[in-house]
Amino acid sequence: MSWLIQASATLLAAASLPHVEALVSAPYPNATNSSTPGASNNAYSPPFYPSPWMDPKDGAWADAYEKAQAFVSQLTLLEKVNLTTGVGWEGEACVGNTGEIPRLGFPSLCMQDSPLGVRFGDYSSAFTAGGTVAASWDRGLWYQRGLQMGMEHRGKGVDVQLGPVVGPIGRNPKGGRNWEGFSPDPVLSGIAVAETVRGIQDAGVIACTKHYILNEQEHFRQPGDYEDQGFLEAISSNIDDKTLHELYLWPFADAVRAGTGSIMCSYNQINNSYGCQNSYLNNKILKGELGFQGFIMSDWSAQHSGVSSTHAGLDMTMPGDTGFNTGDSFWGPNMTIAVLNGTVPEWRIDDMATRIMAAYYLVGRDRTSVPVNFNSWSLDTYGYQHAYAKTGYGLINQHVDVRDEHARAIRDAAARSTVLLKNKNKALPLNGKEKFTAVFGDDAGENPLGPNGCSDHGCDNGTLAMGWGSGTAFYPYLVTPLEAIKNEVTSKNGLIQSVTNNWAYNAITALAKQASVSIVFVNADSGEGYITVEGNAGDRNNLTLWKSGDALIQNVTANCNNTIVVIHSVGPVLVDQWYDNDNVTAIVWAGLPGEQSGNAVADVLYGRVNPGGKLPFTIGRKESDFGPDLIYKPNNGKEAPQQNFEEGVFIDYRYFDKKNITPIYEFGFGLSYTTFEYSDLKINKLSVGPYAPTQGMTKAAPVLGNFSTNTADYQWPNNLTYVDTYIYPYLNSTDLKEASQDPDYGLADEDYLPPGTKDGSPQPRIPAGGAPGGNPQLWDIFFEVSATITNTGSVAGEEIPQVYVSLGGPDDPKVALRGFERLSIQPGKSTTFTATINRRDLSNWDTVHQNWVISDYPKTVYVGSSSRKLPLNAELKI
Ligand SMILES: *[C@@H]1O[C@H](CO)[C@@H](O)[C@H](O)[C@H]1NC(C)=O
Ligand SMILES: *[C@@H]1O[C@H](CO)[C@@H](O)[C@H](O)[C@H]1NC(C)=O
Ligand SMILES: *[C@@H]1O[C@H](CO)[C@@H](O)[C@H](O)[C@H]1NC(C)=O
Ligand SMILES: *[C@@H]1O[C@H](CO)[C@@H](O)[C@H](O)[C@H]1NC(C)=O
Ligand SMILES: *[C@@H]1O[C@H](CO)[C@@H](O)[C@H](O)[C@H]1NC(C)=O
Ligand SMILES: *[C@@H]1O[C@H](CO)[C@@H](O)[C@H](O)[C@H]1NC(C)=O
Ligand SMILES: *[C@@H]1O[C@H](CO)[C@@H](O)[C@H](O)[C@H]1NC(C)=O
Ligand SMILES: *[C@@H]1O[C@H](CO)[C@@H](O)[C@H](O)[C@H]1NC(C)=O
Ligand SMILES: *[C@@H]1O[C@H](CO)[C@@H](O)[C@H](O)[C@H]1NC(C)=O
Ligand SMILES: *[C@@H]1O[C@H](CO)[C@@H](O)[C@H](O)[C@H]1NC(C)=O
Repeated sequence: MSWLIQASATLLAAASLPHVEALVSAPYPNATNSSTPGASNNAYSPPFYPSPWMDPKDGAWADAYEKAQAFVSQLTLLEKVNLTTGVGWEGEACVGNTGEIPRLGFPSLCMQDSPLGVRFGDYSSAFTAGGTVAASWDRGLWYQRGLQMGMEHRGKGVDVQLGPVVGPIGRNPKGGRNWEGFSPDPVLSGIAVAETVRGIQDAGVIACTKHYILNEQEHFRQPGDYEDQGFLEAISSNIDDKTLHELYLWPFADAVRAGTGSIMCSYNQINNSYGCQNSYLNNKILKGELGFQGFIMSDWSAQHSGVSSTHAGLDMTMPGDTGFNTGDSFWGPNMTIAVLNGTVPEWRIDDMATRIMAAYYLVGRDRTSVPVNFNSWSLDTYGYQHAYAKTGYGLINQHVDVRDEHARAIRDAAARSTVLLKNKNKALPLNGKEKFTAVFGDDAGENPLGPNGCSDHGCDNGTLAMGWGSGTAFYPYLVTPLEAIKNEVTSKNGLIQSVTNNWAYNAITALAKQASVSIVFVNADSGEGYITVEGNAGDRNNLTLWKSGDALIQNVTANCNNTIVVIHSVGPVLVDQWYDNDNVTAIVWAGLPGEQSGNAVADVLYGRVNPGGKLPFTIGRKESDFGPDLIYKPNNGKEAPQQNFEEGVFIDYRYFDKKNITPIYEFGFGLSYTTFEYSDLKINKLSVGPYAPTQGMTKAAPVLGNFSTNTADYQWPNNLTYVDTYIYPYLNSTDLKEASQDPDYGLADEDYLPPGTKDGSPQPRIPAGGAPGGNPQLWDIFFEVSATITNTGSVAGEEIPQVYVSLGGPDDPKVALRGFERLSIQPGKSTTFTATINRRDLSNWDTVHQNWVISDYPKTVYVGSSSRKLPLNAELKI
């Protein structure tokens, strides 16, 4: 790939020119007042070394650590290197594979996309996308989805599922991969990611929570050549410390607390230091403050240095080569050399290997592992084991059906994630006895090329049920809305006709005139930046509907006074042109439902499922309502584009609230076929001790075994069957400089490694840390909140009461979500909703003390049915 830079180990130093310490002090040189959050151009990420070694206190990680140490103690240096380094792009069956350890019969570890299913796996399920299932606000459903995805990966032989996603979080709704994650609200995202991680890992598969961090857009996410600009380094997301903690890091903390075995560092730079070699974020924040005990894996080709990334906390490089199929690696032989020449101390490679094996034991892979039985690069039964090298011909795909009964749960998840936005005079549910049903829209029918007809789903043909890119999976089938609705109507002997050409206006008009009900399907797609669809290079170019959706709706509403609009979209779309048209009797947001799309939407339209989903984002009136735009054009000359997160914690509803912008449908909003009433707010204050910052020192870095310093012991074995472009740990010369093939070889450590980098002595613990996720006292419960929710309608329904707090300060969001519960309530009955408010919920990040503090500002709690319908409130007296 032409854009790949052959970065030397000095890149870290070069990319970190001392400027302002954006992460530790006030972001702007001129900002003395913390009410000006954000960060400036050329923001700087300070160094933090040494890279923390595993130090689990107790519980599951401690057990896993013990097993991992026992395993790693048996390994030779070459074997340790094999565990950390991928074999190269398309070298093995999975999207990423490590080297194996034949001496111990330990197989290559298999890393496989995606966050919604087994990418490239036949006979596997296409689950509801993260950004859609977020709308269910249902912990049990998130866990079950994680468990089932984990079981499918397990059945195919996958060790690490590359998901879930909480980065991007969705700073701007046009971000191409937002739909892979959950929600721009950190609490909703945090709870969803934790349940998903638990589910995946309870299935015996390691979760890889990604992309760490601030990977909020696709344009310029990687370094590359641009026609007009020449070569540019990747975009830098510039952020201040407070915003980092209170928004973007929050869900990662929840994932770490839930035990995520691995975390993927991202392509972009953060404060002008690449994600996979940013020592501040990886060493200090993730492994230090959040106490992450698992391993950090690079995004594919996101590693840009050898020694520097090693010391900055990276533990596994994927897919292992410097660029796809270069045959060279920043690690592999270079790692063997770096340990032999002393630039990487033994404790560091030991820690990398131990972290990988601890994650392995944590989820029980020693008991759950099966050999890989599919192949990412071919659906053929027989083919090449090493796809790029075209060698190792044999059985590569056993077509193992891992779907089990998951289809039922997927249908249920999609239906329960559906959000009813408008329902005039109870237009919905339909009863199937409508005299004449008309269905409109390309989005109602089949992709003429088949459900998997576009590579990585990089097209918007037919009904949209997932976005595009690596975060996808093959559909085993895709039930279209048209099929499901047709079944519904014909089984009751009604009339149904459809027009799926969005531009056949005469036919559309003619059909709409005859219909007693028209159901119009429209969509908006996005995806990963390596594919451009209809001019959208990953990120959306706009927030309007695709395929002239607005005109389609307009043509129908002009001729039919009972028009129901169903939206399949990756996030918010502009509905301003038609949402309040009297002839639009209902609006349904169905998101990206996955394989059961049609069945799920029919369940809602025909009332088998009473919709209970709530928007996990805000639908505004126009694009500018959402705050700062993405960067589509280089904005920093020949240097890395700079994306300043100047809006601070104010994204999505927090931005609307701060700027007094009235949305069309707010965050948390969603209707039901019944109605609910809120009453009787009660607050119970618990007594909690004072917050004690974590103190003391870590133990010294352990060293596991010893290794030969004789370079002759590391040469290529002469009996090895070499696979072309594969990455091995061996050296082709006893001269280390020659073996490295690196022109910059031999730079003195002190010329590019910050002081303390190689220091394995005990290190001070971080006050805001102390356990996975952060200081355990952050989860001390201060208040129990309860309220009575009554179903005042005539049918059973599910309601999602939400708890918000106001922290009261001038820099705080008007309200911020803190809790919720999905409750099922019979008509005329009441249920008690309860939630808890913990220390973290009440705290701000204090950039001076580098810890969480509860401010003196008056705190208020709110309970209601959306971020703007909060009928109950009370003061929280701390
Ligand atoms: C601080 O300086 C930056 C860069 O010069 C400028 O864009 C910003 O508006 C200033 N902020 C304040 C609060 O004065
Ligand atoms: C490293 O992994 C490669 C590829 O799986 C394997 O051929 C080789 O034997 C391994 N080397 C060692 C020392 O285990
Ligand atoms: C070692 O790393 C350098 C880049 O730092 C790269 O140019 C070289 O090819 C690598 N050597 C091997 C043997 O992969
Ligand atoms: C399918 O999508 C591709 C890519 O966007 C587009 O070029 C093509 O016209 C579409 N085909 C049909 C039949 O819709
Ligand atoms: C927005 O983008 C979509 C997809 O590329 C396109 O179909 C539509 O025409 C665009 N809308 C506007 C207003 O340009
Ligand atoms: C249908 O849409 C087209 C394109 O926007 C427009 O020219 C035409 O007037 C519309 N017809 C009706 C009946 O709204
Ligand atoms: C609503 O539909 C009727 C046909 O049923 C049509 O006469 C009327 O103009 C439509 N109204 C709007 C606002 O489009
Ligand atoms: C639509 O118009 C028809 C004919 O005027 C009327 O009978 C019907 O009640 C209207 N439906 C709605 C939903 O307004
Ligand atoms: C290659 O030789 C080594 C050292 O003699 C031996 O341990 C290993 O088993 C051999 N490997 C193969 C694949 O024959
Ligand atoms: C040690 O080896 C690494 C990896 O090849 C290399 O980048 C570094 O320059 C070497 N350092 C010294 C002091 O030789």
